[in-house]
Amino acid sequence: MDKTEGYWIKDISLAASGKLYCEEALKQMPGLRVVREKYMGTQPLKGIKILGAGVITYECANFAMLLKDLGADLRWVTDSLHYTIDAAAAYLVSNGISVYGYRHMTEEDYDEAYHLAQFRDGNGKVIAPRYIISDGAELPMFLHKNYPEILPEIKVIFEQTTCGVNKYFSEFINQSGLYFRVVDINGCVTKSKFDNIYGSRESMLEGIQRSLNIQIAGTEAVVFGFGEVGKGAAQALRGMGAHVSIVEIDPIMAMQAHMEGYRIEDKKTALRNSDIVVTATGCINTIDQQDFLDVKDNAVLMNMSEHNQEVNAAWVSNQKSIEAVRLNESCVRYTYNGKQFYILCDGYVLNLYAGYGHPPTVMGTTYTTHILSLLYVEEHPEEFEKVGIYQIPRKVDEDVARYSFPEITKKLTTLTPEQAKYLSVQIEGPFKREEYKY
Ligand SMILES: NC(=O)c1ccc[n+]([C@@H]2O[C@H](COP(=O)([O-])OP(=O)(O)OC[C@H]3O[C@@H](n4cnc5c(N)ncnc54)[C@H](O)[C@@H]3O)[C@@H](O)[C@H]2O)c1
Repeated sequence: MDKTEGYWIKDISLAASGKLYCEEALKQMPGLRVVREKYMGTQPLKGIKILGAGVITYECANFAMLLKDLGADLRWVTDSLHYTIDAAAAYLVSNGISVYGYRHMTEEDYDEAYHLAQFRDGNGKVIAPRYIISDGAELPMFLHKNYPEILPEIKVIFEQTTCGVNKYFSEFINQSGLYFRVVDINGCVTKSKFDNIYGSRESMLEGIQRSLNIQIAGTEAVVFGFGEVGKGAAQALRGMGAHVSIVEIDPIMAMQAHMEGYRIEDKKTALRNSDIVVTATGCINTIDQQDFLDVKDNAVLMNMSEHNQEVNAAWVSNQKSIEAVRLNESCVRYTYNGKQFYILCDGYVLNLYAGYGHPPTVMGTTYTTHILSLLYVEEHPEEFEKVGIYQIPRKVDEDVARYSFPEITKKLTTLTPEQAKYLSVQIEGPFKREEYKY
């Protein structure tokens, strides 16, 4: 482990390989390249303290490098025990960014890393960054618990994911009052309607095959939750030839899945019949204690949501009556009453634990959404004065799409003034009202 003043990562000698992979990823992230070209000269983030907490992948490293190149005073901490790509972390450190996190951290190290990652003054006192980049609300929750005095000075938290946004709503609004100004990056169309769906559609399959090499074609599969991630998971499984059922709590989502040709199943029937079980609900204990007794012989269970709280692998592994055999780092086979089943990644997020996460193109779109949102906030601070959860205007999403897919968007048709007037939009956009559902 390389732990020194300014960083704590696995191995700094991985920096050269990290650089190669980051360069390859950047080729597929045009949005970040366009933003760099456009803003590098003016240094819009010069001297601004930003503390990032997110999964340190090659794509994330390219985003962090962009923040630094635009002038930010940046520190970064992992948001997960298990998902850091150590070569990406080493690459950032070799470029002078303070990074804290390595793959498969202990809980104690993780907690210590969060303390070490903080900005401090000359006396060692923790000081507030202007902005926080968050993926899952881990860092804001940590600050809320450990350094609440700095919270009012944090201008804005940019929250990347569904479960993070849900946490602000439940923890802060329902229980203790909302202390933060949060920008809901997940609420941007160019994030949740792309990363969550199309990223999951690709990276879930990589996660399965790296954990346990199974044929998907011809199997019975069930996806719990037909939200954005669930839609991507269901499409991937169906695309591979599985017969896919959906378990939902929400009648509108069930109706959508039905219209897409998926079978809606009750939980028990779905578990009894399915060879592949995927959770994508963002809920807790989606597959819990008794449910494991219902699963089909040789079923493979996996989670595509945040953390390890959906497939209760911890409960299974604590049962003396259930025999466990670890096949590899990301697959355990359990035997109970003559029946076997497999849990991938101990219930942690499949595509990040067993694989490299979403491909660069879709993550490029997510991080372009981040950076353009951040620049928007920086240019319009008066719009983000009060505590609360904010959405970024649709025009920013449209710019993200233009920057991220220039080859497609250059072929767009332009409205005539007459057509624009008829639709009540500007010729140059935005083309949809804020409430449009996409
Ligand atoms: N693996 C990844 O790379 C990745 C990427 C993006 C988001 N996520 C995470 O995936 C999770 C889902 O995100 P999303 O954007 O799809 O959320 P979403 O809110 O769009 O979808 C969740 C769906 O699950 C349903 N649901 C909730 N509880 C349920 C239960 N107990 N049983 C059955 N259905 C239930 C909801 O009705 C909803 O339709 C979140 O935790 C999010 O943070 C993971």
